[in-house]
Amino acid sequence: MKVTVSRRAHFNAAHRLYRPNWSDEKNEAIFGKCNNPHYHGHNYELIVSVTGEVDPETGYVVDVKILKDFIKSEIEDTLDHKNLNLEVPEFKHKNPTAENIVIFIYNKLKVVLEDDLDLEVTLYETPRNFVSYSGK
Ligand code: NI
Repeated sequence: MKVTVSRRAHFNAAHRLYRPNWSDEKNEAIFGKCNNPHYHGHNYELIVSVTGEVDPETGYVVDVKILKDFIKSEIEDTLDHKNLNLEVPEFKHKNPTAENIVIFIYNKLKVVLEDDLDLEVTLYETPRNFVSYSGK
């Protein structure tokens, strides 16, 4: 029997979406407000879901304390209160869209979790706009 264990987390970060090889007009048309040259912030909400067998000894799929510590060390310490374009090397030449951020988060957590656990990450950029990634 597989059970999914989820934990919520949060970080604030600033970003700008643009392509330097596009005209100002095209960047404005495609990225709108997220193209603001002075950057802007989002309150990102995160749901990390881990699915696996319940360990018969502990009764856990994953120790939530350990999951919480991974989210802190791998995600919050890397992204919270950062300018994603300027301070996170991954986004130096890649747009920090919600899609690219959720893949980044998934990849950082996947390598520190046990191999037999399935991972899904959902990232809210606004209360109404959110993306999910499970490595497919
Ligand atoms: Ni934005």
